[in-house]
Formats: sequence, structure tokens, C-alpha cells
Amino acid sequence: MIIGSPKEIFKGENRVAMTPESAKQLQKLGYQCILEKGAGANSNFSDKDFKNVGVKIVKDANELWKQSDIILKVRGPEKSELSKITSKQHIISFIWPNQNKPLLNALKKKKVTVQAMDMIPRISRAQKMDALSSMANIAGYRAIIEAGNQFGRFFTGQITAAGKVPPAKILIIGAGVAGLAAIGTAQSMGAIVRAFDVRPEVAEQIESMGAEFLMLDFKTDGTGEGGYAKPASKEFIKKEMELFKKQAPEIDIVITTALIPGMPAPKLWPKEMVSLMKPGSVIVDLAAEQGGNCEVTVPNKIIETKNKVKVIGYTDLPSRMATQSSSLYSTNIRHMIDELTPKKDGKPFTNMEDDVIRGATVLHEGKITFPPPKPKIVAIAKHETKNTKEKTPEEIVLEQINAEKKSGKLQIILLTIGACLTWFIGFFAPSEFMQHFIVFILSCFVGYQVIWNVSHSLHTPLMAITNAISSIVIIGALLQMRFENDIVSLLALVSVFIATINIVGGFMVTKRMLSMFQRS
Ligand code: NAI
Repeated sequence: MIIGSPKEIFKGENRVAMTPESAKQLQKLGYQCILEKGAGANSNFSDKDFKNVGVKIVKDANELWKQSDIILKVRGPEKSELSKITSKQHIISFIWPNQNKPLLNALKKKKVTVQAMDMIPRISRAQKMDALSSMANIAGYRAIIEAGNQFGRFFTGQITAAGKVPPAKILIIGAGVAGLAAIGTAQSMGAIVRAFDVRPEVAEQIESMGAEFLMLDFKTDGTGEGGYAKPASKEFIKKEMELFKKQAPEIDIVITTALIPGMPAPKLWPKEMVSLMKPGSVIVDLAAEQGGNCEVTVPNKIIETKNKVKVIGYTDLPSRMATQSSSLYSTNIRHMIDELTPKKDGKPFTNMEDDVIRGATVLHEGKITFPPPKPKIVAIAKHETKNTKEKTPEEIVLEQINAEKKSGKLQIILLTIGACLTWFIGFFAPSEFMQHFIVFILSCFVGYQVIWNVSHSLHTPLMAITNAISSIVIIGALLQMRFENDIVSLLALVSVFIATINIVGGFMVTKRMLSMFQRS
């Protein structure tokens, strides 16, 4: 089948849904790829780059829509494109079905199958297809760059011959994907970063990035379904605003990213808050398209208030970094098509039993299949602590004591069985064997306890380093080598060889893991 990507016609849209790299991968899945002439130009991918990887360039959009079985786009089809759709065509793009009911109905009439890239559920398996996260990540980064462009000072503090420069103070509201990307960027540029979110589980993430999590003394959990937040109560928003009111006079830059999916953005930075800010301060409102978190935001514009605060309401931040966004978006789509082509035979199969495909499919052969049922798998960002947060401290302690008592009883039973077995083997086995056997059992027990009591996320580094240390086995083997018995020496040599692999491998894995956290 033929996959085609037209030039985006939405004004100011620079992204493209297919790149030479993604086209290469799509062809490996058995598809033929075509592209409208010049579709990649605004993302710095020339027609020649595409031709070099075997993509056919077609002269105009009409030709592209006519020839393609599957259409890849960034924005949902525009009115002028609807007439070009042929029945049974397959369309993959951002759709926003909740906000775009007329588009959904228009597509229904065309009897097409549509996968909305904005409907991919946030579950671990779907991360590689999560285009919303890819775009939000870029938007968060770009928000800091745009803020820096409008801000009249350094981000980092400096002591120069000409005087001391204080670091910029940046407040990030909403620590979802965009918020965390903004925190990372601002932090790396040397600013003092503070952040707030309704979901308490993100506090750890914020702090691990070196930013300060602003705590709110309010007993509620803003965690909702699907890794997103749930709407905050009026009392909560009131408390939140009090917190921001204290921050506003101090803060130089505010990046607002607060959003509950499918709802207008909560108004968290009203006019009054803007008036408390210092002249020269900057607000970047990422939620501008959903009505804005800041009351004075004008979508797609930079405005300056009377007290000289600049408010940026750009809604096209990913498109302002088109090369990067196109690369990530086309990779997300390529993974989506990979899932849609299980046989790698160049034919898509919309498996409605699959959580990810079901979630993204808003139209299946002309039938509206939106909204999808809840995914069977728990969302990645949803944290286990949700239930414990609602329990009192006394209940939590009692629960822990009971769990310990239970596991203690089990250990006693297992130890008694083990002791009886050893005693039984002792009747038949020679005493030398028993000595080594008991040491072996004890080391298994100690090793198990060491590994079991370490958090799962630390298992790989722990295994890497203990592998290296445990290779002390090598000493035993070296001692055995002096025996005149050839078989013993040979076995010892083999042990030295295997233990060496263990030692070297352990250190190599450790080194790789450590270098992941080092800046180059
Ligand atoms: P997300 O859903 O991952 O994050 C939103 C965060 O806001 C969540 O962590 C949520 O807990 C938090 N939140 C909700 N209500 C809050 C409240 N009252 N106070 C504090 N935090 C609150 O969303 P993501 O992907 O990070 O996107 C953030 C925003 O950026 C969205 O509005 C999205 O549409 C927008 N966006 C804007 C772009 C642009 O060009 N301007 C491009 C891409 C995304």
C-alpha cells in the first residue's frame, strides 16, 4: 500500500508528518512512500533527501491524496482537503475529536478509518507513539527560550567586575510533560526554579531535577485517570492562588502549563497577579489555545501590560522548532504504523482489541468509535501512593506492622523446612560436602535478602556492582590451579575465565549506567 504525506496547509504550520528517516522505516514495513513536492522544506528536509531514500515526490496535493492509501498529516484535514479524501482511505494525524465534532462527522461521511495521534493513551507501551508528549516536551523547552528572548537579564547568577547579577527566578505551574521540560531547560540555564502541580506525586520528579516543589497545605490528591490530573476543587484553587500571590512579586518568569484534558484551562494567574509582578517580568502561557491559564493572555501574540510585564501566548511552539518536532512526530507515527502492521506486509490492520490502537482510532471504516473505553492497563504516571495518601498515618503504620508479621511467619516456616532438609541430607552426604553446602545455602539466603530489600529501580546498578564484587570466586579458582590434577586445573581455568567476564561485564554496565547521568 502507499503512504503519502501532503504539505500542511494550516497557516504557519511548518511541521511535516514524514521525514526521510521515518520513510526508510516505513518502507521496511512493506509500504511505498510518496510526498507532496516541498512538503518537508519548512522543516529543512529537501525533496532530494526524500528521493535519496526511495520516496516518490508527487507534484501537488490532489495527486498525493489520489494516490495514497494512507495519509499522514500533522493537523487534521482542513475543509479544502476533505473533498480530496477517497473512501476506505486511512488517515493518521492530530484530530482533537472532543473539540472537533464537525470534522469527525465530515470524515464519517467519507467512510474512512482515522487514528488520532492526540488520543494515544498514556500507558508505558504507548510511550514511543505518544505524540502529545513529544510535542509538549518541545513546547516546554521552547517556552523557556521564548521567555529568555523577552527577558532583559541573564538566567544564571554571576559575579563580575561590574557587579553582582542575581539569578532569575522562574515559576513553572503544572509539572506534566511540558512543565518538566521547562524545569529541565531553566535549571540547565542556571535559573532558580520553583514548580507547583496539583498531583503531589510529581514532587519527587521536580526535586530530582534540582527545582523546588511548592507545597500546599491541603489534603487532596489531584491525580485523575490516564496519567492526567482531575479538576481541582474551588477551595483548592483558592489556596493555590494564595500561594501564587506570595510568589508573584518575587518571580521573574512564569511558565503556565496547567491543564485538565478536555476542559478549558484553569485561570490561575489573574490580572491582579500580573499587576503584582516586577516590570520586565515575562509570562509564557502554554495553555493559550485552551483559553489560557493567565487572564490577560492573547493567543498567538506577545502583549505588554501597563506594569511592563510581557505575556507570551504562542500556540505554535513545536512548529517553531519544526525540524525537531517533525523528527519526533514522524517517529511517533512510524511506531503507530508498526503496531498497525503486525505482519510487516505493507497492509494496515486496525486491531480494535489492542488498547493503544483502540484508543487512537476515532473512526473505523466510517463508524465513529470515539470515545474509546478506558484502557485496561494502568496509566504510567499514576502512582501507587494514591491510596496511601488518603489513609491516616495510624492506618499506614498498622498496615505495615501486619505485613511484616505476615512475612515474618512465612520466613520462619521456610527456614524450618530448609533446616529439616539440610538435616536429612546430612544423614547421607559426606561431612566435607555438608560444610560447603551450608556455606552455599547461607550465601543464597544473604544474597536474596540483599537484593530483595533494594528498590526495583536500583536492581541493575546493584547487580552490576555485586557481580563484580562476587567475582571473588576468582581467588578460589586461582588457588585450585596449583593442584597437579589436570581436570581440577582445567576447571579452575574455566572458572577464572567465566569470573573475568563477570567482573569486566559488571564494571562495564556500571560505567555505562553512570555515564547516563553525566553531562558530556
Ligand atoms: P499534561 O497534562 O502532561 O500536564 C498538565 C499539568 O497541569 C498536569 O501535571 C496537571 O497535574 C497540572 N495541573 C492541572 N491543573 C492544575 C492546577 N490547577 N494547578 C497546577 N497544576 C495543574 O500536559 P502537557 O502535555 O504537559 O501540556 C501542557 C500544556 O501545554 C497544555 O495546555 C497543552 O495544550 C500545551 N501545549 C502548548 C503548546 C504550545 O505551542 N503552546 C504545544 C504543546 C502543548
